[in-house]
Amino acid sequence: MTTKIPVILDVDTGIDDALAILYALFSPRLQVLGITTCFGNENVTNTTRNTLAMVEMAQVSVSVYQGAADPLVGQWAPQAEAFHGENGLGNAPIEEPHTGAKNLSASEYLRAAILDRPGEITLVTLARLTNLAIALKNDPSLVQKIRRVVVMGGAAFVGGNVTPVSEANIWGDPDAAWVVFHSGVPITMVGLDVTMQVNISDRQVQNLDPKRPYTKVMRQALDFYLSAYNPGVVSGTRQAPLHDPLAVAVAEDPTLCAISDLSVDIEREGTITRGMTVVDQRGWVDLTPNVAVCRTVDAPRFLSDFCQRLGFPMTSD
Ligand code: RIB
Ligand code: CA
Repeated sequence: MTTKIPVILDVDTGIDDALAILYALFSPRLQVLGITTCFGNENVTNTTRNTLAMVEMAQVSVSVYQGAADPLVGQWAPQAEAFHGENGLGNAPIEEPHTGAKNLSASEYLRAAILDRPGEITLVTLARLTNLAIALKNDPSLVQKIRRVVVMGGAAFVGGNVTPVSEANIWGDPDAAWVVFHSGVPITMVGLDVTMQVNISDRQVQNLDPKRPYTKVMRQALDFYLSAYNPGVVSGTRQAPLHDPLAVAVAEDPTLCAISDLSVDIEREGTITRGMTVVDQRGWVDLTPNVAVCRTVDAPRFLSDFCQRLGFPMTSD
């Protein structure tokens, strides 16, 4: 038997985070050591509650650690309710979880877990990079001890989703993203270039396996998500992107994407470009690449694995 890849998920649950949590917890190739939470799609109290609820629905035992409530600079404000609803799960009624988050902050847990297994752990960040930035600021030695950070975030050669050029997870705390991207830690960027290429459809949502414990909640949540991504489109023909699950898939198997090593910086100041991931494509400038950027994805291969694992039918129409 092959050894599983030890990972920690950092989430702001969120509808696509919820799917990513299930996808990771049911993975035959990943061992989820813990889950850390951050503000983002909702406030951190709600993203933590949603995370605990998803872990309970998965019927898997994994500890959850609550993290940052605000970005490094400034304060969180609701921004994603149009896509994730007022409770973060498309207003689907969710049972209050029976367990709570552990009594250790996300950044403290990250530090302890990484020091415990130096060079082994892959972090899969599906939210703002605030928790990791805090951990790296508190203990810069972690940079050499993290195997890789797979970041769902950024937009290398395509437009943004919050502003014309900025993706939500970078835009929501560009100062934290700057700390991580400048730290020297190995980064794989799973940005909108690839996540917008992997979609779930109405037909798949409607035909989600009725026997799964999460089916009722996820059908309702995904109906909301499909509406948000397809304003004015009648139910039946809608599609919406699986941002966070794709990052989990890349942590499992990077061969899903064509990847280029590139120099990527984070815009922190610009009045209309704040949160942009700026990729230097000038071949004549001697820059050391700091990020493995996913440029294209084998969407059918990812979707087939994702659907099979979570109980969705494989064909979208
Ligand atoms: O831009 C998409 C990302 O922003 C996803 O992680 C989504 O959950 C939100 O956090
Ligand atoms: Ca997310």
